[in-house]
Amino acid sequence: MNKPEPDLMERVVSLCKRRGFIFQASEIYGGLGSCYDYGPLGVELKRNVKEAWWAAMVTSRRDVVGLDSAILQSPKVWEASGHLSGFSDPMVDCRECKARFRADDLEGRVCPNRRFKKRPATECRDAGFFTEPRQFNLMFKTFMGPVEDSASIVYLRPETAQGIFTNFLNVQGSSRLKPPFGIAQIGKSFRNEITPGNFVFRMREFEQMEMEFFVPPAEDEKWYEYWVAERLRWYVDLGVDPEKLRLRPHGEDELAHYSAGCTDVEYLFPFGWSELEGIARRTDYDLKRHSEASGTRLVFWDEETKERYTPYVVEPAAGVDRAAMTFLVDAFEEQELGVDKKGRPDTRTVLHFHPRIAPITVAVFPLVKRDGMPERADEIEADLRAEGFRTFYDEKGAIGRRYRRQDEIGTPWCVTVDGRTLEDGTVTLRDRDSMEQERLPATELSARLREALRNWSRPPD
Ligand code: GAP
Repeated sequence: MNKPEPDLMERVVSLCKRRGFIFQASEIYGGLGSCYDYGPLGVELKRNVKEAWWAAMVTSRRDVVGLDSAILQSPKVWEASGHLSGFSDPMVDCRECKARFRADDLEGRVCPNRRFKKRPATECRDAGFFTEPRQFNLMFKTFMGPVEDSASIVYLRPETAQGIFTNFLNVQGSSRLKPPFGIAQIGKSFRNEITPGNFVFRMREFEQMEMEFFVPPAEDEKWYEYWVAERLRWYVDLGVDPEKLRLRPHGEDELAHYSAGCTDVEYLFPFGWSELEGIARRTDYDLKRHSEASGTRLVFWDEETKERYTPYVVEPAAGVDRAAMTFLVDAFEEQELGVDKKGRPDTRTVLHFHPRIAPITVAVFPLVKRDGMPERADEIEADLRAEGFRTFYDEKGAIGRRYRRQDEIGTPWCVTVDGRTLEDGTVTLRDRDSMEQERLPATELSARLREALRNWSRPPD
């Protein structure tokens, strides 16, 4: 059985900062709680995650279209959806130091009070230091327009889904789609989480990838099963270790206020099994609530059967940041490679990213910085870039070190131009996972890389 590895998280977080994947937001001012900035490699990683999701959920299918709705919506949306009254977590305060915790998530939390600094919050609870649980609404509030009064309060969306429901008629009518069909959206959501943490796992500002799939009510179960299987497969196809993924159906007591059933895709993070994505049966709850509250009937009129009905909804809802973190953690390895030339232990840090997820696909190096090698390497890199590959050029330092720097950020292939290249036009192509090198004509690189991208599979453990 796989076991959680707490140190692994620290090593991944440190790599993320060192190599420019993820930084603490407002770091020079001491940071802002659970908000993060993505650096040059992090944005590419995140873009690749979103592109892979969009390709799987929208562009490779006929039955799903996209949407990009506003973050600010009428407060009536949140009243109708039930978020104003029901989107809350139970919160307790430490009576001594006033620190706040989620009542259902006290295990292992450390009370920040000086007296109880190193004491897990659960011990404080045993000592009776906590208030009775109170409900705390997770939505961020702000004001719209120049007057800051209760009439001008608006909320930052806590999920992207509601923008899809309120646009049901606009999208269905303009796209002329008939259930079963889906509307997908990627965008920022905001939650004033009481106890955020575990790096980008639980943030206050994060990005979601959600798809609402509208079906005839009788087909709800079939499509639920279909989407649970599809979503699990997506992670496996992108190289995540299947042994560290599992499906967990929710118990009755865990279901969100709108849900008739939900299965989580969970990953074995260094801090234990946790939710990566949820696939929920939202029934006709949202369309009905918005129909009642707005007076606009959000229904489907079936021309063939001459019947009007409210579709049921199956919703796969994933987090971009959680997916990115999963790809990072899952890809991370520190390999012991024996000893180096000076007899010191040789360890290589490598991210075994799927090439579609890797921020850089191919790095090009001149073996040395003379004899026309940099010029030839520069041309090869420009050609590959023009072909659509994400490339990187590096001519600094020993070649072995350059390979290792690329291994550490997960670049699957490196191309080296050497003396022989100038004589016969061949280069070496080095594979990140096997560290093997092959020689081939530079003119064949692009076709060879495309083939390797198609055929890539996860290296054995
Ligand atoms: N529309 C349904 C919905 O929002 P959810 O389970 O609350 O369901 C869906 O959120 C996904 O969004 C989660 O599985 C997770 O990947 C991501 N997510 C939710 N809250 C998050 C947070 N505070 N930080 C990072 N990701 C979060």
